[in-house]
Amino acid sequence: MITTISTIGKNVNETVRFGAWLANKRSSGKIAFLQLRDGTGFIQGVVVKEEVGDEIFSKAKSLTQESSIYVTGTVIVDERSPSGYELQVKDIEIIHESIDYPITPKEHGTEFLMDNRHLWLRSRRQAAVMRIRNEVIRATYEFFNNNGFVKVDPPILTGSAPEGTTELFATKYFEEDAYLSQSGQLYMEAAAFALGKVFSFGPTFRAEKSKTRRHLIEFWMIEPEMAFVEFEENLEVQEQYVSYVVQSALKNCEKELKALGRDTSKLANIVAPFPRISYDDAIKFLHEKGFDDIVWGDDFGAPHETAIAESYDKPVFITKYPKGIKPFYMQPDSERDDVVLCADLIAPEGYGEIIGGSQRIHDFELLKTQLEQHGLSLETYKWYLELRQYGSVPHSGFGLGLERTVAWISGVEHVRETIPFPRLLNRLYP
Ligand code: 4AD
Ligand code: MG
Repeated sequence: MITTISTIGKNVNETVRFGAWLANKRSSGKIAFLQLRDGTGFIQGVVVKEEVGDEIFSKAKSLTQESSIYVTGTVIVDERSPSGYELQVKDIEIIHESIDYPITPKEHGTEFLMDNRHLWLRSRRQAAVMRIRNEVIRATYEFFNNNGFVKVDPPILTGSAPEGTTELFATKYFEEDAYLSQSGQLYMEAAAFALGKVFSFGPTFRAEKSKTRRHLIEFWMIEPEMAFVEFEENLEVQEQYVSYVVQSALKNCEKELKALGRDTSKLANIVAPFPRISYDDAIKFLHEKGFDDIVWGDDFGAPHETAIAESYDKPVFITKYPKGIKPFYMQPDSERDDVVLCADLIAPEGYGEIIGGSQRIHDFELLKTQLEQHGLSLETYKWYLELRQYGSVPHSGFGLGLERTVAWISGVEHVRETIPFPRLLNRLYP
């Protein structure tokens, strides 16, 4: 096995050689401190002139930021360093010299960093966020596999628009019109009738003209769908899943959360069950808080969601929204026809909606009426309607936005830092 910085604790008091980049450096006449990174972690290399001789010492002193090297040295325990170890450097071989690396240790503006995203990813902070993203994905697969769900991959090129027709990315499918998927849900409903409990994880496209800290044009969504599961049980799966992911990140990303300065006491508390508030009560609450402009039937904006979330120290479900502001496929409440059996899960600390979910209409006639009222083509949705003709059953599901969830867990302000190469309203580069 080759030595990496993350496993260097196995080589204490041994001399090792490994590949690394120079992240940063300090030096005086007699000693140089090299901040080395190899992708797996960071370690300080100490170069002492008296020990290595003039040639190696001057090589160390002239190393430029992000130059790649093979470094040979002895690993020693150093309690004061963040990694717990230090490398007493014996030799340096330069692989490639990096000249005028654009991202220096000084402060840069966000647009500049975004233009250099291909390099910015190397920074300690960005690498930490990517590791947390990886942990959320890992824990997601673990949770659903442990609970009897089958991973199913819905198509990306589709002929339908489950979440409304205004935010579609249209493309040509030979002679036909097609769209990039804005949700795999409809296909996951078919899959749930085949496999019982299913989940998907894939890219999702929304041509939203929103320029907020919560919106991406291309984002990744986890979409579970369950046959025979109704409204309340759907919420229970969601709170179990979100708790599992947060606790996994706390356990497995201690170093990364620390590097990001995340207040982990806020995350430790994220354990099911989560509070629930009905849309009706949320409206009353907002009126009490002085949001006079909002009336029953309006959708919530970010300030409304934040105000509601601030009353809780866990994510909160807002349940049973008015029918008029939700998609065509949601099951109406059996007790009153003007609201649907849906819930949005709002994260704490102002991170907004991380999940949208609902019980789906399983009655053929009702679904047909809904499609017609929404002006959707019965031809396009023929297959989806047919699911209600051959052994239809109550079923429910939800979609969790990966980037908003990672932003919340990491404590980073904007979703653009939670995806390797963000697609934003004004950004397709790099
Ligand atoms: O609430 P949404 O639109 O729900 C659906 O697409 C359902 N079909 C899901 C389902 O029931 N299977 O999206 C679900 C989640 C949101 O709660 C949010 O976390 C995320 O996807 N999301 C976005 N994330 C980043 N940028 C955007 N533009 C997003 N739009 C939605
Ligand atoms: Mg939503």
